[in-house]
Amino acid sequence: MDSKASPADPCILVIFGATGDLTKRLLIPALCNLRRAGLLPDKFAVVGVARGASDDESFRDNVRPKLAANADWKWLSERMFYFQGAFDDSATYAKLTKFLAGIDAKQDTRGNYLFYLATPPKVFATIAKQLGDGGLVREEKKTWRRVIVEKPFGTDLPSAQALNRQLLDVLTEHQIYRIDHYLGKETVQNIMVFRFANGIFEPLWNRDHIDHVQITVAETLDIERRGKFYDATGALRDMVPNHLFQLLTLTAMEPPACFGSEAVRSEKSKVLDAIHPMGHEKARRNIVRAQYGAGVVQGEKIGAYRNAADVARDSTTETFVALKLVIDNWRWAGVPFYLRTGKALATRRSEIAIQFKPAPFALFQDTPVERLTPNDLILQIQPEEGMILHFSAKVPGPNVRMGGVEMKFNYNDYFKETPNTGYETLIYDCMKGDPTLFQRADNIEGGWRVVQPILDEWAKGRSAALPIYAAGTSGPSEADELLGRDGRRWRPIDQNHEPRS
Ligand code: BG6
Repeated sequence: MDSKASPADPCILVIFGATGDLTKRLLIPALCNLRRAGLLPDKFAVVGVARGASDDESFRDNVRPKLAANADWKWLSERMFYFQGAFDDSATYAKLTKFLAGIDAKQDTRGNYLFYLATPPKVFATIAKQLGDGGLVREEKKTWRRVIVEKPFGTDLPSAQALNRQLLDVLTEHQIYRIDHYLGKETVQNIMVFRFANGIFEPLWNRDHIDHVQITVAETLDIERRGKFYDATGALRDMVPNHLFQLLTLTAMEPPACFGSEAVRSEKSKVLDAIHPMGHEKARRNIVRAQYGAGVVQGEKIGAYRNAADVARDSTTETFVALKLVIDNWRWAGVPFYLRTGKALATRRSEIAIQFKPAPFALFQDTPVERLTPNDLILQIQPEEGMILHFSAKVPGPNVRMGGVEMKFNYNDYFKETPNTGYETLIYDCMKGDPTLFQRADNIEGGWRVVQPILDEWAKGRSAALPIYAAGTSGPSEADELLGRDGRRWRPIDQNHEPRS
Protein backbone atom coordinates (compact mmCIF):
# COMPACT_ATOMS: atom_id res chain seq x y z
CA MET A 1 0.00 0.00 0.00
CA ASP A 2 1.70 3.09 -1.26
CA SER A 3 0.67 6.37 0.35
CA LYS A 4 1.02 8.03 -3.04
CA ALA A 5 -1.30 5.46 -4.57
CA SER A 6 -4.69 6.54 -5.85
CA PRO A 7 -7.99 5.60 -4.24
CA ALA A 8 -9.56 2.32 -5.28
CA ASP A 9 -12.51 2.10 -7.67
CA PRO A 10 -15.99 2.97 -6.41
CA CYS A 11 -17.48 -0.23 -4.98
CA ILE A 12 -19.54 -1.97 -2.33
CA LEU A 13 -17.74 -4.31 0.03
CA VAL A 14 -20.19 -7.05 1.01
CA ILE A 15 -19.00 -8.96 4.07
CA PHE A 16 -20.55 -12.36 4.68
CA GLY A 17 -20.07 -13.24 8.33
CA ALA A 18 -20.22 -9.59 9.30
CA THR A 19 -20.90 -10.22 12.96
CA GLY A 20 -17.85 -12.46 13.34
CA ASP A 21 -14.57 -11.78 14.99
CA LEU A 22 -12.59 -11.13 11.79
CA THR A 23 -14.84 -8.26 10.73
CA LYS A 24 -14.56 -6.47 14.04
CA ARG A 25 -10.92 -7.24 14.81
CA LEU A 26 -9.34 -6.75 11.40
CA LEU A 27 -11.56 -5.75 8.49
CA ILE A 28 -13.21 -2.64 9.92
CA PRO A 29 -9.95 -1.31 11.47
CA ALA A 30 -8.25 -1.95 8.11
CA LEU A 31 -10.95 0.05 6.32
CA CYS A 32 -10.49 2.93 8.78
CA ASN A 33 -6.75 2.86 8.09
CA LEU A 34 -7.37 2.84 4.34
CA ARG A 35 -9.69 5.79 4.71
CA ARG A 36 -7.05 7.63 6.69
CA ALA A 37 -4.48 6.94 3.97
CA GLY A 38 -6.90 8.33 1.36
CA LEU A 39 -7.16 4.99 -0.42
CA LEU A 40 -10.87 4.31 -0.19
CA PRO A 41 -13.03 5.72 -2.96
CA ASP A 42 -15.51 8.43 -1.99
CA LYS A 43 -18.19 6.33 -3.60
CA PHE A 44 -18.07 3.42 -1.25
CA ALA A 45 -20.28 1.30 1.02
CA VAL A 46 -19.98 -1.69 3.30
CA VAL A 47 -22.83 -4.15 3.57
CA GLY A 48 -22.58 -6.65 6.41
CA VAL A 49 -24.48 -9.87 5.83
CA ALA A 50 -25.23 -12.27 8.66
CA ARG A 51 -27.94 -14.59 9.85
CA GLY A 52 -28.93 -12.83 13.07
CA ALA A 53 -31.53 -10.09 13.43
CA SER A 54 -29.88 -6.68 13.67
CA ASP A 55 -30.01 -3.23 12.12
CA ASP A 56 -27.57 -0.68 10.74
CA GLU A 57 -27.09 1.07 14.07
CA SER A 58 -26.38 -2.08 16.10
CA PHE A 59 -24.10 -3.43 13.37
CA ARG A 60 -22.07 -0.21 13.45
CA ASP A 61 -21.94 -0.18 17.25
CA ASN A 62 -20.82 -3.80 17.41
CA VAL A 63 -17.87 -3.42 15.07
CA ARG A 64 -16.74 0.06 16.05
CA PRO A 65 -12.94 -0.09 16.42
CA LYS A 66 -11.44 1.25 19.62
CA LEU A 67 -8.48 2.92 18.00
CA ALA A 68 -9.81 4.48 14.82
CA ALA A 69 -9.80 8.26 14.58
CA ASN A 70 -13.28 9.70 14.95
CA ALA A 71 -13.32 11.32 11.54
CA ASP A 72 -12.42 8.07 9.76
CA TRP A 73 -14.97 6.08 11.70
CA LYS A 74 -17.68 8.66 11.13
CA TRP A 75 -17.03 8.62 7.39
CA LEU A 76 -17.04 4.84 7.26
CA SER A 77 -19.98 4.19 9.58
CA GLU A 78 -22.22 6.46 7.52
CA ARG A 79 -21.62 4.08 4.63
CA MET A 80 -22.21 0.85 6.57
CA PHE A 81 -25.41 -1.17 6.30
CA TYR A 82 -26.67 -4.42 7.69
CA PHE A 83 -28.47 -7.13 5.75
CA GLN A 84 -29.98 -10.16 7.45
CA GLY A 85 -30.18 -13.50 5.68
CA ALA A 86 -29.34 -17.19 5.78
CA PHE A 87 -26.37 -18.04 3.56
CA ASP A 88 -27.96 -21.17 2.12
CA ASP A 89 -31.31 -19.67 1.21
CA SER A 90 -31.76 -18.47 -2.37
CA ALA A 91 -34.33 -15.92 -1.16
CA THR A 92 -31.48 -14.17 0.70
CA TYR A 93 -29.68 -13.55 -2.57
CA ALA A 94 -32.76 -12.37 -4.42
CA LYS A 95 -33.34 -9.79 -1.69
CA LEU A 96 -29.64 -8.97 -1.47
CA THR A 97 -29.59 -8.23 -5.21
CA LYS A 98 -32.26 -5.58 -4.76
CA PHE A 99 -30.68 -4.25 -1.58
CA LEU A 100 -27.29 -3.83 -3.25
CA ALA A 101 -28.86 -2.22 -6.32
CA GLY A 102 -30.46 0.37 -4.02
CA ILE A 103 -27.20 1.16 -2.29
CA ASP A 104 -25.34 1.14 -5.58
CA ALA A 105 -27.72 3.77 -6.95
CA LYS A 106 -27.54 5.87 -3.80
CA GLN A 107 -23.76 5.74 -3.34
CA ASP A 108 -22.96 5.68 -7.07
CA THR A 109 -20.67 2.68 -6.68
CA ARG A 110 -20.91 1.81 -10.41
CA GLY A 111 -22.12 -1.76 -9.93
CA ASN A 112 -18.76 -2.94 -8.56
CA TYR A 113 -19.16 -5.48 -5.76
CA LEU A 114 -16.50 -7.13 -3.67
CA PHE A 115 -17.82 -10.10 -1.72
CA TYR A 116 -15.74 -11.02 1.30
CA LEU A 117 -16.34 -14.52 2.66
CA ALA A 118 -15.45 -14.03 6.32
CA THR A 119 -17.52 -17.05 7.31
CA PRO A 120 -16.73 -20.53 8.55
CA PRO A 121 -15.14 -22.40 5.62
CA LYS A 122 -17.92 -24.94 5.33
CA VAL A 123 -20.16 -22.31 3.73
CA PHE A 124 -17.62 -20.86 1.23
CA ALA A 125 -18.87 -23.06 -1.61
CA THR A 126 -22.54 -22.56 -0.70
CA ILE A 127 -22.24 -18.78 -0.79
CA ALA A 128 -20.27 -18.82 -4.03
CA LYS A 129 -22.88 -21.03 -5.68
CA GLN A 130 -25.75 -18.87 -4.47
CA LEU A 131 -23.96 -15.74 -5.69
CA GLY A 132 -23.50 -17.46 -9.05
CA ASP A 133 -27.09 -18.70 -9.28
CA GLY A 134 -28.38 -15.29 -8.24
CA GLY A 135 -26.38 -13.58 -11.00
CA LEU A 136 -24.49 -11.47 -8.48
CA VAL A 137 -21.05 -12.30 -9.80
CA ARG A 138 -21.80 -11.60 -13.46
CA GLU A 139 -19.53 -8.83 -14.73
CA GLU A 140 -21.47 -6.73 -17.18
CA LYS A 141 -21.11 -3.30 -18.72
CA LYS A 142 -17.67 -2.61 -17.30
CA THR A 143 -18.63 -3.55 -13.75
CA TRP A 144 -16.46 -5.90 -11.74
CA ARG A 145 -17.46 -8.57 -9.25
CA ARG A 146 -14.81 -10.19 -7.05
CA VAL A 147 -14.80 -12.66 -4.19
CA ILE A 148 -12.29 -12.82 -1.35
CA VAL A 149 -12.08 -16.27 0.23
CA GLU A 150 -10.66 -16.50 3.73
CA LYS A 151 -8.49 -19.22 5.16
CA PRO A 152 -8.57 -22.18 5.70
CA PHE A 153 -8.89 -23.16 2.06
CA GLY A 154 -9.59 -26.88 2.35
CA THR A 155 -8.32 -29.28 4.96
CA ASP A 156 -6.27 -31.44 2.60
CA LEU A 157 -5.52 -31.74 -1.12
CA PRO A 158 -8.83 -33.32 -2.22
CA SER A 159 -10.94 -30.82 -0.28
CA ALA A 160 -8.91 -27.86 -1.60
CA GLN A 161 -9.28 -29.20 -5.16
CA ALA A 162 -12.99 -29.64 -4.63
CA LEU A 163 -13.38 -26.09 -3.32
CA ASN A 164 -11.42 -24.73 -6.26
CA ARG A 165 -13.72 -26.62 -8.63
CA GLN A 166 -16.82 -25.31 -6.87
CA LEU A 167 -15.58 -21.74 -7.02
CA LEU A 168 -14.47 -22.04 -10.62
CA ASP A 169 -17.91 -23.38 -11.55
CA VAL A 170 -19.38 -19.93 -10.93
CA LEU A 171 -16.39 -17.57 -11.08
CA THR A 172 -13.38 -17.14 -13.30
CA GLU A 173 -9.94 -17.30 -11.72
CA HIS A 174 -9.47 -13.53 -12.08
CA GLN A 175 -12.50 -12.96 -9.82
CA ILE A 176 -11.20 -15.16 -6.97
CA TYR A 177 -8.92 -13.70 -4.29
CA ARG A 178 -7.77 -16.42 -1.87
CA ILE A 179 -6.33 -14.78 1.20
CA ASP A 180 -3.23 -15.69 3.13
CA HIS A 181 -2.79 -12.89 5.62
CA TYR A 182 0.99 -13.46 5.67
CA LEU A 183 1.09 -11.84 2.26
CA GLY A 184 -0.35 -8.70 3.84
CA LYS A 185 2.67 -8.35 6.12
CA GLU A 186 5.14 -5.68 5.03
CA THR A 187 8.13 -7.80 5.98
CA VAL A 188 6.86 -10.72 3.92
CA GLN A 189 6.32 -8.50 0.89
CA ASN A 190 9.78 -7.10 1.47
CA ILE A 191 11.42 -10.47 0.84
CA MET A 192 10.91 -9.97 -2.89
CA VAL A 193 12.13 -6.39 -2.84
CA PHE A 194 15.14 -7.35 -0.78
CA ARG A 195 16.09 -10.17 -3.12
CA PHE A 196 15.34 -8.61 -6.47
CA ALA A 197 15.93 -4.89 -5.96
CA ASN A 198 19.44 -5.35 -4.57
CA GLY A 199 22.26 -6.57 -6.74
CA ILE A 200 24.52 -7.97 -4.05
CA PHE A 201 22.57 -10.83 -2.51
CA GLU A 202 21.11 -12.63 -5.49
CA PRO A 203 24.47 -13.93 -6.80
CA LEU A 204 24.96 -15.65 -3.42
CA TRP A 205 21.40 -16.97 -3.23
CA ASN A 206 22.02 -20.55 -4.27
CA ARG A 207 23.52 -23.93 -3.40
CA ASP A 208 27.08 -22.72 -4.00
CA HIS A 209 26.93 -20.31 -1.09
CA ILE A 210 24.02 -21.29 1.13
CA ASP A 211 24.36 -24.18 3.54
CA HIS A 212 20.73 -24.34 4.61
CA VAL A 213 17.67 -22.24 5.40
CA GLN A 214 15.63 -22.19 8.61
CA ILE A 215 12.10 -20.83 8.70
CA THR A 216 10.56 -20.34 12.11
CA VAL A 217 7.12 -19.16 13.10
CA ALA A 218 7.03 -19.45 16.87
CA GLU A 219 3.98 -18.32 18.80
CA THR A 220 3.51 -17.77 22.51
CA LEU A 221 -0.24 -18.01 22.07
CA ASP A 222 -1.87 -21.24 23.06
CA ILE A 223 -5.00 -22.30 21.24
CA GLU A 224 -7.09 -19.75 23.12
CA ARG A 225 -10.79 -20.52 22.70
CA ARG A 226 -10.31 -22.25 19.36
CA GLY A 227 -10.21 -25.83 20.70
CA LYS A 228 -12.90 -27.16 18.38
CA PHE A 229 -11.25 -25.81 15.24
CA TYR A 230 -7.71 -26.51 16.35
CA ASP A 231 -8.19 -30.07 17.53
CA ALA A 232 -9.50 -31.00 14.09
CA THR A 233 -6.74 -29.04 12.37
CA GLY A 234 -3.34 -29.12 14.10
CA ALA A 235 -0.20 -27.09 13.50
CA LEU A 236 0.67 -28.62 10.13
CA ARG A 237 -2.63 -27.77 8.42
CA ASP A 238 -3.05 -24.49 10.28
CA MET A 239 0.32 -22.98 9.38
CA VAL A 240 2.48 -24.92 6.93
CA PRO A 241 0.85 -25.19 3.47
CA ASN A 242 -0.18 -21.56 3.78
CA HIS A 243 1.87 -19.18 5.94
CA LEU A 244 5.17 -21.06 6.11
CA PHE A 245 5.03 -21.88 2.43
CA GLN A 246 4.59 -18.18 1.64
CA LEU A 247 7.88 -17.55 3.41
CA LEU A 248 9.46 -20.56 1.74
CA THR A 249 8.36 -19.74 -1.80
CA LEU A 250 9.30 -16.07 -1.61
CA THR A 251 12.73 -17.06 -0.32
CA ALA A 252 13.32 -19.80 -2.87
CA MET A 253 11.59 -18.58 -6.03
CA GLU A 254 13.39 -17.57 -9.20
CA PRO A 255 13.23 -13.90 -10.18
CA PRO A 256 9.93 -13.43 -12.02
CA ALA A 257 10.04 -11.82 -15.45
CA CYS A 258 8.11 -8.88 -13.96
CA PHE A 259 6.20 -8.06 -10.79
CA GLY A 260 2.94 -8.96 -12.50
CA SER A 261 0.58 -11.25 -10.63
CA GLU A 262 0.81 -14.17 -13.03
CA ALA A 263 4.60 -14.09 -13.24
CA VAL A 264 5.08 -13.93 -9.47
CA ARG A 265 2.53 -16.60 -8.70
CA SER A 266 3.89 -18.91 -11.37
CA GLU A 267 7.38 -18.72 -9.87
CA LYS A 268 5.99 -19.50 -6.43
CA SER A 269 4.15 -22.53 -7.77
CA LYS A 270 7.31 -23.80 -9.42
CA VAL A 271 9.04 -23.90 -6.04
CA LEU A 272 6.27 -26.00 -4.55
CA ASP A 273 6.32 -28.29 -7.56
CA ALA A 274 10.06 -28.78 -7.13
CA ILE A 275 9.83 -29.91 -3.50
CA HIS A 276 10.94 -33.49 -3.36
CA PRO A 277 7.83 -35.61 -2.72
CA MET A 278 7.82 -37.19 0.72
CA GLY A 279 7.67 -40.91 0.50
CA HIS A 280 6.48 -42.94 3.43
CA GLU A 281 9.97 -43.16 4.94
CA LYS A 282 10.74 -39.44 4.62
CA ALA A 283 7.37 -38.49 6.04
CA ARG A 284 8.43 -40.38 9.16
CA ARG A 285 12.05 -39.37 9.28
CA ASN A 286 11.87 -35.72 8.28
CA ILE A 287 8.90 -34.58 10.28
CA VAL A 288 8.59 -34.00 13.99
CA ARG A 289 5.22 -33.45 15.60
CA ALA A 290 4.61 -32.65 19.22
CA GLN A 291 2.03 -31.24 21.60
CA TYR A 292 2.40 -28.80 24.46
CA GLY A 293 1.99 -29.87 28.04
CA ALA A 294 1.51 -27.58 31.02
CA GLY A 295 4.11 -24.89 31.52
CA VAL A 296 4.78 -21.21 31.93
CA VAL A 297 4.78 -18.88 28.94
CA GLN A 298 6.28 -15.49 29.63
CA GLY A 299 5.39 -15.67 33.30
CA GLU A 300 1.89 -16.99 32.76
CA LYS A 301 0.82 -20.53 33.64
CA ILE A 302 -0.61 -22.46 30.73
CA GLY A 303 -2.52 -25.72 31.10
CA ALA A 304 -1.72 -28.73 28.94
CA TYR A 305 -3.26 -28.72 25.47
CA ARG A 306 -5.32 -31.79 26.30
CA ASN A 307 -7.00 -29.94 29.13
CA ALA A 308 -8.06 -27.01 26.96
CA ALA A 309 -11.76 -26.47 26.27
CA ASP A 310 -13.17 -28.44 23.32
CA VAL A 311 -10.06 -30.60 23.02
CA ALA A 312 -10.25 -34.37 23.39
CA ARG A 313 -8.53 -35.50 26.60
CA ASP A 314 -6.58 -38.09 24.61
CA SER A 315 -6.03 -35.82 21.61
CA THR A 316 -3.04 -36.59 19.40
CA THR A 317 -3.32 -33.31 17.50
CA GLU A 318 0.06 -31.64 17.09
CA THR A 319 0.62 -28.08 18.30
CA PHE A 320 4.20 -28.08 17.02
CA VAL A 321 5.67 -29.32 13.80
CA ALA A 322 9.19 -29.26 12.39
CA LEU A 323 10.12 -30.55 8.97
CA LYS A 324 12.95 -30.81 6.54
CA LEU A 325 12.24 -30.18 2.86
CA VAL A 326 14.44 -30.48 -0.17
CA ILE A 327 13.86 -28.41 -3.28
CA ASP A 328 14.95 -30.35 -6.32
CA ASN A 329 16.06 -27.70 -8.73
CA TRP A 330 19.25 -26.23 -10.11
CA ARG A 331 19.43 -23.44 -7.54
CA TRP A 332 18.68 -25.41 -4.39
CA ALA A 333 19.72 -29.03 -4.91
CA GLY A 334 21.29 -30.28 -1.70
CA VAL A 335 20.27 -27.25 0.43
CA PRO A 336 17.87 -28.36 3.16
CA PHE A 337 15.04 -26.07 4.20
CA TYR A 338 14.07 -26.63 7.83
CA LEU A 339 10.67 -25.32 8.89
CA ARG A 340 9.14 -25.21 12.35
CA THR A 341 6.11 -23.69 13.95
CA GLY A 342 4.38 -24.15 17.24
CA LYS A 343 2.03 -22.79 19.86
CA ALA A 344 2.81 -21.95 23.50
CA LEU A 345 6.53 -21.53 22.86
CA ALA A 346 8.99 -19.39 24.77
CA THR A 347 8.86 -16.34 22.52
CA ARG A 348 6.93 -14.98 19.60
CA ARG A 349 9.34 -14.95 16.71
CA SER A 350 8.94 -15.34 12.96
CA GLU A 351 12.05 -15.27 10.87
CA ILE A 352 13.87 -16.72 7.92
CA ALA A 353 17.52 -17.55 8.58
CA ILE A 354 19.78 -18.00 5.58
CA GLN A 355 22.88 -19.79 6.77
CA PHE A 356 25.80 -19.32 4.39
CA LYS A 357 28.58 -21.85 3.92
CA PRO A 358 31.61 -21.23 6.08
CA ALA A 359 34.82 -19.73 4.75
CA PRO A 360 37.58 -22.28 4.12
CA PHE A 361 39.30 -22.55 7.51
CA ALA A 362 42.85 -22.77 6.18
CA LEU A 363 43.86 -19.32 7.40
CA PHE A 364 42.58 -19.80 10.91
CA GLN A 365 43.54 -23.36 11.61
CA ASP A 366 44.28 -22.63 15.24
CA THR A 367 40.89 -21.12 15.84
CA PRO A 368 38.30 -23.49 17.22
CA VAL A 369 35.50 -23.82 14.69
CA GLU A 370 32.93 -22.59 17.22
CA ARG A 371 34.70 -19.27 17.31
CA LEU A 372 34.20 -18.67 13.62
CA THR A 373 30.83 -17.06 13.27
CA PRO A 374 28.97 -18.60 10.37
CA ASN A 375 27.57 -15.87 8.14
CA ASP A 376 23.88 -15.85 8.39
CA LEU A 377 21.30 -13.44 7.22
CA ILE A 378 18.15 -13.22 9.28
CA LEU A 379 15.02 -11.80 7.73
CA GLN A 380 12.94 -10.86 10.74
CA ILE A 381 9.22 -10.99 10.06
CA GLN A 382 7.73 -10.38 13.52
CA PRO A 383 7.61 -9.02 16.15
CA GLU A 384 10.94 -7.37 15.29
CA GLU A 385 10.88 -6.25 11.68
CA GLY A 386 14.19 -5.99 9.97
CA MET A 387 17.32 -7.83 8.96
CA ILE A 388 20.51 -8.95 10.63
CA LEU A 389 23.74 -10.07 9.00
CA HIS A 390 26.14 -11.97 11.23
CA PHE A 391 29.83 -12.17 10.49
CA SER A 392 33.21 -12.57 12.18
CA ALA A 393 35.40 -9.67 13.20
CA LYS A 394 38.75 -9.45 14.92
CA VAL A 395 38.61 -8.91 18.63
CA PRO A 396 40.96 -5.98 19.34
CA GLY A 397 44.26 -7.08 20.88
CA PRO A 398 47.68 -8.40 20.01
CA ASN A 399 46.47 -11.87 18.97
CA VAL A 400 44.23 -12.71 16.08
CA ARG A 401 41.06 -13.63 17.90
CA MET A 402 37.68 -13.64 16.36
CA GLY A 403 34.24 -12.77 17.62
CA GLY A 404 30.80 -12.71 16.10
CA VAL A 405 29.27 -9.33 15.29
CA GLU A 406 26.07 -8.26 13.66
CA MET A 407 24.89 -5.63 11.24
CA LYS A 408 21.31 -4.75 11.82
CA PHE A 409 18.57 -2.97 9.95
CA ASN A 410 15.41 -2.14 11.81
CA TYR A 411 12.33 -1.06 9.90
CA ASN A 412 11.26 1.44 12.51
CA ASP A 413 14.55 3.28 12.32
CA TYR A 414 13.93 4.12 8.68
CA PHE A 415 10.24 4.14 8.03
CA LYS A 416 7.51 5.85 9.93
CA GLU A 417 5.21 3.32 11.48
CA THR A 418 1.67 3.54 10.16
CA PRO A 419 -1.24 1.71 11.78
CA ASN A 420 -1.53 -1.59 9.97
CA THR A 421 -3.57 -4.73 10.54
CA GLY A 422 -2.01 -6.46 7.54
CA TYR A 423 -5.37 -6.45 5.74
CA GLU A 424 -5.13 -2.94 4.29
CA THR A 425 -2.96 -3.88 1.34
CA LEU A 426 -4.98 -7.00 0.66
CA ILE A 427 -8.35 -5.23 0.60
CA TYR A 428 -6.96 -2.34 -1.41
CA ASP A 429 -5.25 -4.59 -3.96
CA CYS A 430 -8.44 -6.54 -4.43
CA MET A 431 -10.41 -3.34 -5.03
CA LYS A 432 -7.77 -2.37 -7.59
CA GLY A 433 -7.91 -5.81 -9.23
CA ASP A 434 -4.34 -6.81 -8.41
CA PRO A 435 -4.17 -10.45 -7.28
CA THR A 436 -0.37 -10.66 -6.85
CA LEU A 437 -0.65 -11.02 -3.08
CA PHE A 438 -3.39 -13.63 -3.29
CA GLN A 439 -3.16 -17.33 -3.87
CA ARG A 440 -3.93 -18.72 -7.30
CA ALA A 441 -5.64 -22.14 -7.44
CA ASP A 442 -2.34 -23.85 -8.27
CA ASN A 443 -0.51 -22.14 -5.38
CA ILE A 444 -3.05 -23.51 -2.93
CA GLU A 445 -3.06 -27.00 -4.40
CA GLY A 446 0.74 -27.03 -4.66
CA GLY A 447 1.00 -26.39 -0.91
CA TRP A 448 -1.45 -29.13 -0.06
CA ARG A 449 0.28 -31.52 -2.46
CA VAL A 450 3.49 -31.20 -0.45
CA VAL A 451 1.88 -31.89 2.92
CA GLN A 452 -0.63 -34.53 1.80
CA PRO A 453 1.81 -37.47 2.17
CA ILE A 454 2.50 -36.34 5.73
CA LEU A 455 -1.21 -36.21 6.52
CA ASP A 456 -1.63 -39.66 4.96
CA GLU A 457 1.22 -41.05 6.99
CA TRP A 458 -0.16 -39.63 10.21
CA ALA A 459 -3.64 -40.88 9.38
CA LYS A 460 -2.28 -44.41 9.21
CA GLY A 461 -1.38 -43.93 12.85
CA ARG A 462 2.05 -45.30 12.19
CA SER A 463 3.82 -42.24 13.56
CA ALA A 464 5.88 -42.67 16.68
CA ALA A 465 4.52 -41.61 20.05
CA LEU A 466 3.68 -37.94 20.22
CA PRO A 467 6.32 -36.03 22.18
CA ILE A 468 5.05 -33.53 24.73
CA TYR A 469 6.98 -30.27 25.24
CA ALA A 470 6.46 -28.03 28.21
CA ALA A 471 4.68 -24.80 27.32
CA GLY A 472 7.11 -21.90 27.39
CA THR A 473 10.07 -23.83 25.97
CA SER A 474 11.53 -24.04 22.47
CA GLY A 475 9.65 -27.20 21.56
CA PRO A 476 10.57 -30.88 21.75
CA SER A 477 14.14 -32.20 21.74
CA GLU A 478 13.16 -34.35 18.73
CA ALA A 479 13.14 -31.14 16.67
CA ASP A 480 16.75 -30.53 17.69
CA GLU A 481 17.62 -34.07 16.63
CA LEU A 482 16.14 -33.44 13.19
CA LEU A 483 18.91 -30.90 12.57
CA GLY A 484 21.41 -32.63 14.82
CA ARG A 485 21.42 -35.62 12.48
CA ASP A 486 22.64 -33.29 9.73
CA GLY A 487 25.24 -31.72 12.04
CA ARG A 488 23.23 -28.49 12.37
CA ARG A 489 21.44 -26.55 15.05
CA TRP A 490 18.32 -24.42 15.15
CA ARG A 491 18.73 -20.80 15.93
CA PRO A 492 17.47 -20.34 19.47
CA ILE A 493 13.82 -19.36 19.68
CA ASP A 494 14.32 -17.55 22.94
CA GLN A 495 17.36 -15.48 22.20
CA ASN A 496 17.34 -13.80 25.60
CA HIS A 497 17.94 -17.05 27.37
CA GLU A 498 20.00 -19.16 25.04
CA PRO A 499 23.42 -18.54 23.56
CA ARG A 500 23.60 -17.88 19.84
CA SER A 501 24.80 -20.92 17.97
C1 BG6 B 1 -3.71 -18.13 11.62
C2 BG6 B 1 -3.77 -19.40 12.40
O1 BG6 B 1 -3.93 -18.36 10.26
O2 BG6 B 1 -2.42 -17.53 11.78
C3 BG6 B 1 -3.49 -19.13 13.86
O3 BG6 B 1 -5.04 -20.01 12.26
C4 BG6 B 1 -2.18 -18.40 14.03
O4 BG6 B 1 -3.48 -20.35 14.61
C5 BG6 B 1 -2.11 -17.18 13.12
O5 BG6 B 1 -2.08 -18.00 15.38
C6 BG6 B 1 -0.73 -16.58 13.12
O6 BG6 B 1 -0.77 -15.35 12.47
P1 BG6 B 1 0.22 -14.17 12.93
O7 BG6 B 1 -0.10 -13.07 11.97
O8 BG6 B 1 -0.12 -13.86 14.35
O9 BG6 B 1 1.60 -14.72 12.78
